[in-house]
Amino acid sequence: MRSKIVAGNWKMNKTLEATETLLAALAAKLPDTHAEVMVAPTFVNLTGAVQSLHASTIQVIAQNMHFAESGAYTGEISADMLLNIDIDTVIIGHSERRAYFGETDAILAKKVVAALDKNMRVMFCFGEELDDRKSENHFKVVETQLRNALFDLDASVWNKIILAYEPVWAIGTGETASPEQAQEMHAFIRKTIADVYDTSVANNVSILYGGSVKPGNASEIFSKPDVDGGLIGGASLVADDFVAIIKAI
Ligand code: 13P
Repeated sequence: MRSKIVAGNWKMNKTLEATETLLAALAAKLPDTHAEVMVAPTFVNLTGAVQSLHASTIQVIAQNMHFAESGAYTGEISADMLLNIDIDTVIIGHSERRAYFGETDAILAKKVVAALDKNMRVMFCFGEELDDRKSENHFKVVETQLRNALFDLDASVWNKIILAYEPVWAIGTGETASPEQAQEMHAFIRKTIADVYDTSVANNVSILYGGSVKPGNASEIFSKPDVDGGLIGGASLVADDFVAIIKAI
């Protein structure tokens, strides 16, 4: 059985104080839910977030990590550093990392392997640009992103993978994929995984949708059979909005 997941990617937002204020509000308002709830604060606030949430079921996850064990990589963070502060899940492949920090499929494949080697869970992000969709190449682009970073993995590690389909044209734009567009792509992703691996791997992987999910559109998107939750940016920075999205699942 795959998990339902609602995760907030806080990107480069919130000081430690603001992080703790938001976490306190979330912990206080968290509804009873069967879904896993996760937040990804920026690196310097991870320790504080873990401490703030010690009595909560909300999980703290990281936004990124480096593929090397350790060494001369100024400004980078290793898997061991995350594990050492009780973070066992990491987002890899966000479109902002790809677009602004030059992270290629080859780099992402190394990061995925490095995280899995440490027994971490990977939330792998991918999704097409607007031009890809306009030229009807979106299925091909998504399949290539998955193939290049994930399809060399052994089936046995797929229980550590969470997928987050985030069409770039829907991120931070207020323009959301329609529930039908999300379902169509998620079904395609699941079928592709079934073809490469088998239906058991495909049916057990959680596939989240990300891109301008708000309280007003979350229920309809989450109601689709192959949408197992959401990766939320802007709306996860406002306690009431994030709580409403969690309730929607
Ligand atoms: P928005 O919800 O702000 O569109 O961001 C989505 C996202 O990039 C989550 O990783």
